[in-house]
Amino acid sequence: MSESSIFHDRSKLSPRYIPSDLPHREKQIEQIQYVFKDSYSKPDGFPLAVLQVIGPAGIGKTSTVLKFSKLLEINFASNRLTIKTAYVNLKLQGGNKYAIYRLLLERIAPELPAQGLSAEEMLRYLLRYLYENKKYALIILDEIDYLIKITKDSGIIYDLTRLNEFDPDHPCNVKGVIFIARSTEFYSRLDKAELSTLGRVPMEFPTYSVKQISDILVSRCSEAFNSKAIGSDVIDEISKITTSAAVNGDIRYALDLLLYAGNLAESQGTSRVSLDQIRKVHGQIHPSITTEEIEDLPKSQIFTLMALIRTLIAKKKQYAELKEIRLRVIELTEQFKLKKFDVEDSLHDLQIRKLIEIRSLKEIGIHGASLQELEPILQKQIKGDRKND
Ligand SMILES: Nc1ncnc2c1ncn2[C@@H]1O[C@H](COP(=O)(O)OP(=O)(O)OP(=O)(O)O)[C@@H](O)[C@H]1O
Ligand SMILES: [Mg+2]
Repeated sequence: MSESSIFHDRSKLSPRYIPSDLPHREKQIEQIQYVFKDSYSKPDGFPLAVLQVIGPAGIGKTSTVLKFSKLLEINFASNRLTIKTAYVNLKLQGGNKYAIYRLLLERIAPELPAQGLSAEEMLRYLLRYLYENKKYALIILDEIDYLIKITKDSGIIYDLTRLNEFDPDHPCNVKGVIFIARSTEFYSRLDKAELSTLGRVPMEFPTYSVKQISDILVSRCSEAFNSKAIGSDVIDEISKITTSAAVNGDIRYALDLLLYAGNLAESQGTSRVSLDQIRKVHGQIHPSITTEEIEDLPKSQIFTLMALIRTLIAKKKQYAELKEIRLRVIELTEQFKLKKFDVEDSLHDLQIRKLIEIRSLKEIGIHGASLQELEPILQKQIKGDRKND
């Protein structure tokens, strides 16, 4: 049963959905599998493997690593072993070392209480739990570059890459730690000891070519759209747009384009998405800000972004001043009965997320145009059921 004249199942375009098929990442999956190939045949002799996956936004790093983790779980299971994956996205769930280790403990050993333990004790508990229960673990820390940029607490890299040294009497049952980042810029904030345990050779994921993007979109469309709703002209156009400099291969943007153009076609009562609809939507949405990024923002950042946009729209200027943004934030916090928060911190975070540009305290702006389009998306986020409170 189809959802509408256009969509078969639009939720398949959601950034949260991880398709089982990832065309053009087969090689990367194989490479990671190769690193872990002995981990399930001789787990106790297999040393802790540390891996870094690096590459620009939206090119399948997270999806690929998560898919690999599923395959590894199957490999372990077929040898009658259990490996648990602890995935933490540091941009979403970050915080300090303590909070991160607590999440790891929750994911791997939910029955262990974490209260009252120090960060190091939590790791010891975790290792002991795995050892005593004959279980194994794979730790995935996504967006590590974000964490290292906002905190000085980079000790987390040091700790996790030396888990095998915690208890010399027992083998370490954490078999792998995979770090994912957009670039290696964060190296500059690490000290020598951290850099050396991290290993200097990351796995770099290449961006997709036009042809590869087109294959990926065909595969994604086959799940989300009715068979005749998307023609090859539309796929070609979106593939071209996606490889443009502004989008830089971000598949998330391509999926957003498909979703919004599909919605538009639906509201206009057509049964196919047209090139015009794609172009119209492309002209309206913001290549540097995807819906997923907005959905992931904490409340204070959403309001700060909203305040900035309102200021820019009211002034009809490209940049706003910090004090103007502050005033708008005060208006908004009163209107929505929010607690006060630090606007500068929030702007700094938006800058690290590359959503805004801060040239000086008098020149704060957003890359590109279409503020009018961004505002309703934020409004929706403010009104909707939000998870980041
Ligand atoms: N090869 C592929 N096949 C199908 N879908 C893909 C493929 N590569 C990426 N995608 C889709 O594109 C979106 C972005 O992918 P993903 O989240 O893995 O990117 P990322 O490299 O981790 O980006 P970021 O650095 O922003 O976190 C996801 O919705 C994902 O399902
Ligand atoms: Mg990712």
